[in-house]
Amino acid sequence: MSYNYITADEAAALIQNGQQIAFSGFTPAGATKAIPGAIARKAEAEHAAGRPFKINIVTGASTGDSCDGVLSRAQAINYRAPYQSNADLRAGANSNPNTINFTDLHLSMTPQYMNYGFMGKFDWAIVEAADVSDNGEILLTTSVGIAPTGLKLAEKIILELNEYHSKELRGFHDIYETANPPYRREIPIYSASDRVGAEVVKVDPKKIVGIVRTNKADEVKPFKPSDPITDKIGQNVADFLAAEMKAGRIPPEFLPIQSGVGNIANAVLGALGSNPEIPAFSMYSEVLQDSVVELIEKGRIKHGSATSLTVTPEKIQEIYSNPKFFRERLTLRPQEISNSPEVARRIGVISINTAIEVDLSGNVNSAHIMGKNLMNGIGGSGDFTRAAYLSIYTCPSVAKGGLISAIVPNVSHCDHTEHSVNIIVTENGVADFRCKTPMQRAQLLIDVCANDEYKELLRDFIKAVSCGHTPQTLAKAYAFHEAFVREKDMRKAKFD
Ligand code: COA
Repeated sequence: MSYNYITADEAAALIQNGQQIAFSGFTPAGATKAIPGAIARKAEAEHAAGRPFKINIVTGASTGDSCDGVLSRAQAINYRAPYQSNADLRAGANSNPNTINFTDLHLSMTPQYMNYGFMGKFDWAIVEAADVSDNGEILLTTSVGIAPTGLKLAEKIILELNEYHSKELRGFHDIYETANPPYRREIPIYSASDRVGAEVVKVDPKKIVGIVRTNKADEVKPFKPSDPITDKIGQNVADFLAAEMKAGRIPPEFLPIQSGVGNIANAVLGALGSNPEIPAFSMYSEVLQDSVVELIEKGRIKHGSATSLTVTPEKIQEIYSNPKFFRERLTLRPQEISNSPEVARRIGVISINTAIEVDLSGNVNSAHIMGKNLMNGIGGSGDFTRAAYLSIYTCPSVAKGGLISAIVPNVSHCDHTEHSVNIIVTENGVADFRCKTPMQRAQLLIDVCANDEYKELLRDFIKAVSCGHTPQTLAKAYAFHEAFVREKDMRKAKFD
């Protein structure tokens, strides 16, 4: 079959107000980079002509600025799920009334919601590809995300064929889709490196109504240089895991690691990689960053499984220049599989994610600021936390130069309950909640993890607790947050 090669503006002309689109992309990796900009231009023209134009968008997770950013600034988004990290999109989701209707979803569940029909009909799948064959075999680029599900469900497909990406990517992907209940079977993955699916996504070529040629790198930014706080958190995690292994609570072969994104995650991986007591390990994670590529090259990571290769242009070129080596050591899966709680529970994933705040009972907030403003979203943290062999949350003990304590009497929004959270790590130390009561956890968190400036205040809160199983006093539950909202400083909280 010969395809119709079109421009991004011709592609945008096909998209109608109110339609729902499944876009590829999981982080800026594998996100479409030309068509969203053209849709944004169309939206602006329609608005200028007095006509409504907004679309509904589902992606793998966040995308790059040339997708989420341009569409948000053009007021072109009505609905968006399941995760984002863009300042303009965040502003729309937090405005009153919301100008962008955003739903924060567990990432492993997003393709399922699509498959079950919970998200309605998909008019389009707009997907970045490294190659496409005449018979409809699509080679994805640096992420898989929801692309296979979108390509299957959408009525019509437009591809961005990105020549920046090497066709050597063939063999990096493992496309496996589950059947809907009651016909679903187990996902036959028993270790991070198992491959159980296809190298490409197969679609009916007649559904591909246009292909837009591009040549653009993923918009992945390099990390900020590490700082003493993140380095200490990384060190604390590595020392803790080495001690757990010595104590026989982690097997000598070690267990697969899931690690979140960002600077703390990078510092944690760096510390794990350089700890001589920890053997070479595997990753069963959602995102692999530059640090993973470096640890693979050093032989410290045996295999990296994820749904996204979120690496800088410099690192992707390193991979493309040595494809055989990396193909044997990297696997990109649909997010339903990379983040599958079934697989994570079976293979014993140690999950390490970042908290915005943690409360004295052990509940964790990953997604909201002061109980109301969306930061990014829950992402895959919940997929892994609840299913993990050992679930770890890290955070600096304070934010905003000490005006905010990350250890609070009660989280202002709860993503992960005390029942799923095992370990909290700050720069000050490691609080091990396993088999502890809520009161014991509170003491531990204050003694070991809290910042010195907040220890007495947290103890005052505990003193105000009369009796009961959980450290709680309803009248003062949000005294820390109220003090910040009132006086821009949690240290002004009062318990008398
Ligand atoms: N109250 C208010 N603001 C807070 C805060 C708190 N308790 N804790 C952190 N912040 C602010 C920081 O000051 C910073 O603000 P800035 O951007 O204005 O400087 C911002 O939140 C980000 O914090 P930072 O310390 O730089 O951490 P990060 O970049 O590692 O992000 C999360 C932390 C929690 C926002 C991020 O990890 C996330 O979105 N997690 C949820 C999704 C997830 O876990 N994904 C991985 C699963 S595989």
